[in-house]
Amino acid sequence: MSSNDPLNQITALSRPSRENQARGKQYKPRGAPTGAKSNLAPIFLFPTTQNRQDTAAMRPSWRTVECETRQPVRTASHTTVERFYYISTKIPELRLAGRYQQAYKTSNTIKRQKMDSNVFNLLVEYSTQAPSGHNTQPWKFENIQDGIIIHPDFTRALPIVDADNHALFISLGCAVENLVIAASKKGYESIVNYPDDPNGAITVNHYKPDANNHTADDLFDFIKTRQVTRNKYTNRRVEDTELETLRTSFNFEGVSVIFLNNKENFEKIIPLIIQGNNLQFQNKQFVNELTNWFRYTKSEAEKTKDGLWTAGMGLPNMGRLIGNLIMKNFVSAKSESKRIEDILQHTAGIAIFISEKNDVISWTNVGRAFQRFGLTATKLGICHAHLNMPCEEISVRKKLAKALGLYQKHPLLLIRYGYAEKMPYSFRRTAEDVIIKTK
Ligand SMILES: Cc1cc2nc3c(=O)[nH]c(=O)nc-3n(C[C@H](O)[C@H](O)[C@H](O)COP(=O)(O)O)c2cc1C
Repeated sequence: MSSNDPLNQITALSRPSRENQARGKQYKPRGAPTGAKSNLAPIFLFPTTQNRQDTAAMRPSWRTVECETRQPVRTASHTTVERFYYISTKIPELRLAGRYQQAYKTSNTIKRQKMDSNVFNLLVEYSTQAPSGHNTQPWKFENIQDGIIIHPDFTRALPIVDADNHALFISLGCAVENLVIAASKKGYESIVNYPDDPNGAITVNHYKPDANNHTADDLFDFIKTRQVTRNKYTNRRVEDTELETLRTSFNFEGVSVIFLNNKENFEKIIPLIIQGNNLQFQNKQFVNELTNWFRYTKSEAEKTKDGLWTAGMGLPNMGRLIGNLIMKNFVSAKSESKRIEDILQHTAGIAIFISEKNDVISWTNVGRAFQRFGLTATKLGICHAHLNMPCEEISVRKKLAKALGLYQKHPLLLIRYGYAEKMPYSFRRTAEDVIIKTK
């Protein structure tokens, strides 16, 4: 961002201390004309740039800035655009911020309208193509005035493998990112409002900028072809330039990815992957929870439209009875470890998603980051699949963090990547199945 970028001017406004804010004191933004005293309160700004790449880069860092408002702002909300309009007419720096003027120009067009139900259904359909742990699809969608709420569906939680629901919120984050990308295809810019409690829903507000101020995100084209590919990969390495494209495919505060891109690099963490795997497969409850989500035949998968269709794991069609018998009697920690070690012999590398914090907002952001990574990998013809065991078992996660020199940070997803043939696609419930009907 250049030094004369309007956003820099905006963030230069002075911030009142909380104490003084609480006392209801009047403040004057630095640079504002004399007499322009006002209550200052935080407001989230969002970019409305010409260039989608620019937007993607800035989206995660929507800034909290101190601005003039009629009333103190408690949270970023659907009224943000109107507030921005009000503010931008009052403060010269913002009035000058030409790129951002679009926000207020469009404020009149988003007046508390629900999205057309056909568009809403389409966005939900694309959003639900997101990955989710065990393909539980733990989400519900509600069409509200100027936005969509994505509710967590805790009836689809995985209490054994995901006791704290971190994977559930990562999955919701993936769905959020698909929604934002699909909305961009339909001409909308999105503002994501995160939940601030563990039961929170995520609201994605939409507004329509001028067509010439908007570029659709081209990752849209890969939403339906992305998949988690679980077969053995070839030995072909992924070029550094492509790794860089993957690394920069997202930019969310507090989320990063590291690549272990050769065997010497990732060999040191293989014992931790095996340790996590052993802990899981020695736990009967884990195996029960997993097999409950297995769909052993195509007709079973088609009927429930969720869960792990075993064809996607390279297993033949078999009935539930036989499938469960095999899983419980022939699949063991030892046989799984052997399979994983074999898979790791044919992996170009491992990507580990790291979060600075371990809370609902960070998990959601890890999901959004992972979704952009997965779509970008698909665009590049690179496959990926999870080896999450050391992230899911908390005792092993701590060791993993230490082995990677992370200490206070949290490795939340461990993904192998490389080149492979695609596998059969998993199923999804329809938009109808996941929409909350309101008047
Ligand atoms: C948070 C999260 C955790 C996941 N964990 C695993 C895992 O441990 N092992 C695995 O094989 N797949 C894992 N997956 C992949 C899902 O099983 C997969 O997304 C789902 O079956 C749907 O398939 P698709 O992504 O190919 O459409 C995970 C996905 C997410 C979003």
